[in-house]
Amino acid sequence: MIQAAQFVSDVASDARIFRAPGRVNIIGEHTDYNDGLVLPTNTALYTWLAIKPRTDRVVSILAKNFEEQRDFNLDAIEPSNKPEWIDYLKGVCTEIEATGITLCGAEIVIHGEIPIGGGMSSSASLELVMATAMLAISDASLPAQEIAKLCQRAEHTFAGVNCGIMDQFSIACCGEGQAILLDCRSLDTRPVVIPEEITLLITDSGVNHKLSDGGYNQRAIECQDAVAIIQERYSSVTSLRDVSPKQMHSVTEQLGDLLLRRCRHVITEIERVKTVFDALNSGDIETVGQLVSRSHSSLRDDFEVSCDEVESLVSITNACKGVLGSRMVGAGFGGCVLSIVQAVHVEAVRQQIAQEYRTNNGKSPWMHTVASTMPAAEYSAT
Ligand code: GLA
Repeated sequence: MIQAAQFVSDVASDARIFRAPGRVNIIGEHTDYNDGLVLPTNTALYTWLAIKPRTDRVVSILAKNFEEQRDFNLDAIEPSNKPEWIDYLKGVCTEIEATGITLCGAEIVIHGEIPIGGGMSSSASLELVMATAMLAISDASLPAQEIAKLCQRAEHTFAGVNCGIMDQFSIACCGEGQAILLDCRSLDTRPVVIPEEITLLITDSGVNHKLSDGGYNQRAIECQDAVAIIQERYSSVTSLRDVSPKQMHSVTEQLGDLLLRRCRHVITEIERVKTVFDALNSGDIETVGQLVSRSHSSLRDDFEVSCDEVESLVSITNACKGVLGSRMVGAGFGGCVLSIVQAVHVEAVRQQIAQEYRTNNGKSPWMHTVASTMPAAEYSAT
């Protein structure tokens, strides 16, 4: 993989450079598309994009990670049958132009540092860097929240993933040095600083998920099915966000075992987000760790989005001295594990995980210490 600094110096002389970070969700998984609460922060791993405007309407892109060159014409955009990286970019351009903005063509080089399918929002980062850059070279602008929403729409229509708003919102709006409590219904946010005593450590299980494979959309459908059943008794309910534990228990039979467990995850997870937000504010790091671990159990047992490799990694991380709690991050079905680690122990924890966990190809896992960074923006080396 090329280094970001090398990428910038290779292409920077006559191009503008943009970058969008990855995001790590501390807690609140599979709650965003249920109008619930989430608690993400951005981390200093980026999708980099170098861009030069063209005088026509052709967008030509070199994806460095795949050494693949592709183009499309802004006047004739069609999604592919099978979503691939270019579709995210086509989708973003289509959604920007749907707002009435006319984009110009561009020569683009992209280089991504975020593990693909690792639960750290490589897709949303790609969408956001593209939107930010295309708007800038076309002398246009939109509020950050609007950019987040149009990128989410692009993912729905061009990648076929019915994702919530968390990833795009965090990458577009979450400030440096903070995590945000985001209400995915109102889009209200409350910032919180992560206490210095803890480090957020990410370890990649080495199993990549692909959200377009269907497990993710299936969970969203199950949540909607549960809402439809609950609505028959409680007509004011429009999403799982509105459902109290008491209401859920009163329709146990109608829901059946599977939908009951899906509901239980979402409802208890929203409560955990509130508790972790308060615990971060008061510096109660033990509670943060415990709730993160409880979130994992709920994702594994009730929402069923974990897998064997992630389970093995979570057991290894939790057994390390100084780890207060661990869980899978993002959609699941593989990807990365987040551990809440007492900062003084983080190096020893990294070493122990490197020794004890082997990915399917026999290697030590990729690890990353979260360094909270700014949202998607133009990059200037000076
Ligand atoms: C993916 C989606 C998000 C969110 C998470 C799970 O990252 O893009 O919208 O649903 O999964 O919390």
